[in-house]
Amino acid sequence: MSEGKERQQWGTKLGIILAVAGSAVGLGNFLRFPVQAAQNGGGAFLIPYFISLILLGIPLMWIEWAIGRHGGLFGHGSAPFILNRLWKNRVVKYLGVIGVFGPIVIFIYYTYIESWLLGYAFFSITGQLFSTVTPEGMKSFLSIYQGLASGSNLGTAYIFFVITFLINFYFLYRGVQGGIELLCKVAMPLLFIFGFIIAGRVLLLPHIFTGFGFLWNPDFSVLTSAKVWMAAAGQIFFTLSVGIGAILTYASYLKKGDDIILSGLTAASTNELAEVVLGGSIIIPAAFVFFGVAGATAAAQSGAFNLGFVTMPLIFGQIPLGAVFALLWFGLLFLAGITSSVSLAEPAVAFFADDFGISRKKAVVWLGVILFILCQFPIFFLGQGVVDELDFWGGTFCLVIFGTIETVLFVWVFGIEKAWAEMHHGAEMRIPGFYKPIIKYVTPLFLFLILGFWFFQQGIPVIMMQGVAAAQQPYVLATRIGLVVLFLAIALFVRLAWYKKKKAGEIE
Ligand code: PHE
Repeated sequence: MSEGKERQQWGTKLGIILAVAGSAVGLGNFLRFPVQAAQNGGGAFLIPYFISLILLGIPLMWIEWAIGRHGGLFGHGSAPFILNRLWKNRVVKYLGVIGVFGPIVIFIYYTYIESWLLGYAFFSITGQLFSTVTPEGMKSFLSIYQGLASGSNLGTAYIFFVITFLINFYFLYRGVQGGIELLCKVAMPLLFIFGFIIAGRVLLLPHIFTGFGFLWNPDFSVLTSAKVWMAAAGQIFFTLSVGIGAILTYASYLKKGDDIILSGLTAASTNELAEVVLGGSIIIPAAFVFFGVAGATAAAQSGAFNLGFVTMPLIFGQIPLGAVFALLWFGLLFLAGITSSVSLAEPAVAFFADDFGISRKKAVVWLGVILFILCQFPIFFLGQGVVDELDFWGGTFCLVIFGTIETVLFVWVFGIEKAWAEMHHGAEMRIPGFYKPIIKYVTPLFLFLILGFWFFQQGIPVIMMQGVAAAQQPYVLATRIGLVVLFLAIALFVRLAWYKKKKAGEIE
């Protein structure tokens, strides 16, 4: 941090809890979770899911709050220099690059999808969304919007993207307390109100309990599949926003004596309420009521986008006051999205503001320009598999790698005793004692197992681009090269910041 500048701080405890919950509750809760559950054993999926929550999600939530607050006391707000405080070692700051890189990679495609929600909310008001009543019609509505149908263009989608992007950067520009905290304090309660109204409406559908049965009837045979366990662990990481650097940065704006344990747990529980209760009650059960077993299965197999943007509008087209519910649905998703996307941009803002020594506002403007350029790729190459590729490296791979790095550094290098004390500093509640061996042994072991299984079962095929259509391979390869360049560019900035600090005598 350049001298004489006060770092930003959260205004209230409720503010930080809502900000972290805002980051966690996102598209992952309402679109990704139900699809993962439906594809991975229904009710039985909840077993690996909750085990992952207890052994990975909650510990990582506490670890990130603790590491982030610790780093913030030294004026650091992002992973490269925060991790360096845990272990004074030449390479560790480069491992921390993942904590700036990963969120940016997710931001690049997440914000574009978020903007579709704004577009669809708008079409709910104008009624354009209900001009078609068949699945084929609704699918082509989506592909016309995305500019994928022949003869269509991206004009409308682009306008909504620019608006969405500007809203994100408006709040980032206003700062931590006046921007992000304010946004989450308004958006989170609204989101829950919308969510309960929609879930309530879904509960009133005829035969809805058969729909619940369809989603939640357990198929225990899946429990022996490593793929299901990896899907559950991946979902926990993604939905809680842990393992990527976002929570780290938010926690760096805490004060020294602020509570971590209860606040972190509250934020995580809020996310689970939104995910399991609301996310699990809406799209799949409703799809079942309207389209039966075959239709709901097909929709779940065809992925989260189809359910959210095709199946749901078709359902709304068939119920009274459907336009109002459609507006609530897309409004809910948009609010969930924006409170997450600001948290994805914040680590990079913090890096430039704290460690590069430029003002926050300048950092936001520069980052805005850079991210705007990067966002063009998923927009213009959506049909070429770019989003899937970004989602894989940013939204799956980086999470597990970075989660493992920070856990090992905190628990083994910094040391479990110091880590335990650090977590409990200012705590309003103690972590039950049995969590100490869990955090020390089970969490890292679980992470290594996931990494190992992933590498042998999926890693090699993914790296070799097996299953990627030949026409898409050049684009996928180009995306990978682009990602490597981005990573190296951030690493270079970290190096420059390091020399600057060294010259200024801020670090030994
Ligand atoms: N947790 C968000 C969701 O569920 C996504 C996200 C991941 C946000 C990682 C920030 C960091 O949609």
